[in-house]
Amino acid sequence: MGNVYVFDHPLIQHKLTYIRDKNTGTKEFRELVDEVSTLMAYEITRDMPLQDVTVETPVATAKCKVLSGKKLGLVPILRAGLGMVDGILKLIPAAKVGHMGLYRDPDTLEPVHYYSKMPTDIGERDLIVIDPMLATGGSASEAIRSLKELGAKSIKLMCLIAAPPGIERVRKDHGDVDIYVAAVDEKLDEKSYIIPGLGDAGDRLFGTK
Ligand code: PRP
Ligand code: URA
Repeated sequence: MGNVYVFDHPLIQHKLTYIRDKNTGTKEFRELVDEVSTLMAYEITRDMPLQDVTVETPVATAKCKVLSGKKLGLVPILRAGLGMVDGILKLIPAAKVGHMGLYRDPDTLEPVHYYSKMPTDIGERDLIVIDPMLATGGSASEAIRSLKELGAKSIKLMCLIAAPPGIERVRKDHGDVDIYVAAVDEKLDEKSYIIPGLGDAGDRLFGTK
């Protein structure tokens, strides 16, 4: 089974509180999601492989490390995942970005797949699927299934807020996928919104209703 990592750094928790607040407007919400995404990217890249190099400092030769250049790919789940892309690219600017178009049918709660455009070499990349919300897990599970069908072999899932049923669903469907979140909330309501959550992430990011 995949592992679940909760990034509870004080800065992440502080900013997440304002993201949750219903009085936070679109501009600030976007900025905060961007900032938390950067902080989470710092944590999620901890295991990136390094290689040895030597450089000449002004006074001596130093044995140092640089990233080994492993290929990365980000896969935001549209729409809300888009809000996390730029924050992650600030730290890993060379990552390629594939777009996965899915929305959750409000009646059936089943994911509806409407678009996909991936880098051609996703089988050689470490992929990070990004979406602020992991509620029932239907969208994330379908995104991961679709990526595997396209040849993906290494996938992580990064979300701001997860609910226990979403975590269970992804772990059951995709035991090879580790999940990285800023918070695990209590439950889902009768419409499968995360409680306490932050409301509708896409609507709050893009100012729609
Ligand atoms: C939200 C969210 C996830 C999904 C989570 O997207 O961004 O993709 O719901 O729910 P689930 O875990 O139960 O599948 P939504 O369908 O509202 O689409 P949007 O991003 O276009 O607003
Ligand atoms: N999608 C959202 O945007 N928010 C939730 O709480 C659940 C699904």
